[in-house]
Order: sequence, then structure tokens, then C-alpha cells
Amino acid sequence: MAKPPSDDHAPATRLVNAGRRAEWTGAVVNPPVWRASTHLYANMAELRAGRPNEDGHFYYGRRGAPTQWALCDALTGLEPGATGTVLYPSGVSAIAGALLAVLRPGDVVHITDNAYEPSRVTGLGILREFGIEARFFDPLDPEAFAASIGDTSKAVLLESPGSLTMEVCDIPALAAIAHDRGLVSVFDNTWAGPLGFAALEKGADITVMSLTKHVGGHSDLMMGSASAGPRFYPKLRRRAQSLGLVVSPDDASLALRGLRTMGLRLTRETDSALEIARWLESCEDVARVLCPMLPGSPGHDLWRRDFTGGCGLFSFVLKGGTFEARDRLIDALGLFGIGYSWGGFESLAIPVDPAPIRTASPWPLAGEDSADRFGVRLSIGLEEPADLIGDLERGLAAWRG
Ligand SMILES: Cc1ncc(COP(=O)(O)O)c(C=O)c1O
Repeated sequence: MAKPPSDDHAPATRLVNAGRRAEWTGAVVNPPVWRASTHLYANMAELRAGRPNEDGHFYYGRRGAPTQWALCDALTGLEPGATGTVLYPSGVSAIAGALLAVLRPGDVVHITDNAYEPSRVTGLGILREFGIEARFFDPLDPEAFAASIGDTSKAVLLESPGSLTMEVCDIPALAAIAHDRGLVSVFDNTWAGPLGFAALEKGADITVMSLTKHVGGHSDLMMGSASAGPRFYPKLRRRAQSLGLVVSPDDASLALRGLRTMGLRLTRETDSALEIARWLESCEDVARVLCPMLPGSPGHDLWRRDFTGGCGLFSFVLKGGTFEARDRLIDALGLFGIGYSWGGFESLAIPVDPAPIRTASPWPLAGEDSADRFGVRLSIGLEEPADLIGDLERGLAAWRG
């Protein structure tokens, strides 16, 4: 929906106030959970006159009601350059929904090789079935991306840092190439979110997030969003409506609750991640720490140039070792759960094995022949970092056997 009156307060203040319109909240702080399929009209004249196809106008449940509108409004308010936000039932459906809004049969979509695996699956699955070719490129090589663009290229899907391998891409350069060649750039901003990376201002046309991660923040909801300026927001909205995509007001209410504390959680998780990354860097068993916020880590200079924040998600690569030894390490962790998501209040660990899926750039980054190939991804939560370090010490002892 239309952006609220301009708000130049700091992000922390905007996180508290975003989306809290009096007409939606009444005399209480939060918008109630409006459970609604049917929206009623006063009489035939009102039904015939219709209502605008925009958030803020009751029409029918698929177009949402104030709980979803408040969340859209809040996300739009946090994203510099956005005029509107569309909600999706998951981050993956936001990525697919955004791509389906701008691609047609016969088009080529370029996808960064470090993209989240289900994004690749979207490119190689449903898009291919609809006659769209997915072409992968090295995330660290803007020239290779430029060279791979052809006459039928229509869009590019970017992600930075890669959510497993943590490469920080030169998004302004990649987006500028896309722009010059007439491609729509869709950027998965789940890692930093709008507080840490102003995606539209840095050149992306559409910015997508899995709200399942930092916005929800409590590992109890699935949702995604796509935000854009006046050129692409109406396309996103039309496509989402034609696909019948809608999120429940209960989940929208949980996401709004999560959003209010997202800044605090991100600050804490970023600080803790940095402390733990520094400690890992000093460990003999660790070959490399892939944490964009850590000076000396790959991509740190670009992160400093383009980002205003980080988060608790990073990876590290073990020195040598075996598959089984890494399993022992992860199994020995007591505070880190084993699970695929991230951005919750609780810490998680999973193995990183992207080599078989990458097609345009090698993993490990040190080269195919590197013995250091067993990675672990950590999502740092709100626990005391010293306790998490103690847990990792136990894990590394198990790794050594
Ligand atoms: C970078 C990234 N984008 C998108 C998604 C998909 O989000 P969801 O799980 O909400 O579908 C994920 C999930 O892990 C992710 O890591």
C-alpha cells in the first residue's frame, strides 16, 4: 500500500512506530487480529461502486485486512525507496512470486551461484517448466555476469552474503550492470534486512526477505515479503493476487510483534557472532572463518562499504578432517540446535556442503584441491556468547576425536 507520510526518524524509532495507524489499532497499541474472509458492503450501491485494489480498502479476505496491511505498511516504511510491500506464505514463495511477476516464457533469468538452494530449485524447476531458462554466474565476478547477458535476458536474482558460503557480492555493480542491460534485479535481503542493507537504494529493483528469519525472530512462523518502488510494486501485487497468495492474520500479528524487537536482537546477535567468529579464528582446527563483519574475512571490505549492519549468521571451514568428524562436532553441541532455519532467538548449527550444487564458481573458495572443505554454519541467537564458545569448544574436542 501507499507509503505513509515520510518518516526521517532513526531505524530504532521507526521499528517501534511503523504500521501503527490509529485507524487500524484503535485505542490499543497493536492492530487486532482481523480474521476475515468476507468483507461486508453496506448496500448494492457500495458493492457496485467497488473499492480500490489497494491495502487499506476492505474488499475480500484474499486482499488482507488491517493486520496484514499494518505489516506491509511497516515493512514499506523501513525500506528506503519502497512504495509498497507484498506478503507471501514463505520466503521461497516471495522469491518465486517476484520472479513470476517479471518473467515470461522465452526469458532468461540469471541467478547468482551462491543463491539459497531452493532459489536454484525454483530456477531449475518451475521456471524451466514455464519456458524460462536459468543461467548461473560467479557471485564474485561482475564481468562474468555482464558477459553472460544475452538478448533474451530479463532478470537477475542476487543474494548477498550467500546464506551458506557468505560471499559478499558487489551489489551496486551487479545491479548497475542489470540496469544498463535492461534486466530487473531481484535481491534476497534476508541476511541483513532493511536495517543492514538499503537494497533499493543500492540499485535493486525488488527486495525480497524471508520474514521467517529475523522479522519473525522466534522460530514459530513462515512468511516472506517483496518490496519495490512504483514501477515494480504494482506488478508484484497483481501477480500475487492472481496466484491467490495470502498470509494469515495470526502470522502477520506474530511477524509484527517480532519486528518491534528485531533491531535489538540483530544488534545482540551481530555482536555475539563477531565475538564467536574472532574466537573461532584463533582455533587451530579452523581453516577459515566466513563472517562478513570480521575484519580479514572474505568480503569484509565490501560489507563495510555497503552495509549498515550484520546478523548472527556465519560459517567456518575446518582444517582437513572428515565427514564423520564434522558430524561428531555438530552432535556434541548442546546449546546449538541442528536445523535449517536461522534468525531465531536460539542458536543453530548445520553442515555446509555446497560443492555438488554449484555450477559457476568453485567451493571451497580456496580451490577444488583444498583439503579444507568441511564447513559448519552457525546461526547465533541470544544466549551468552561465552556459553556458546564453551559449547563449540566441546564440539571441536569431539572433532579431534
Ligand atoms: C537466504 C534465504 N532466502 C530465502 C529463504 C527461504 O525462506 P523460507 O524458509 O521462509 O521459505 C531462506 C531460508 O532459509 C534463506 O536462507
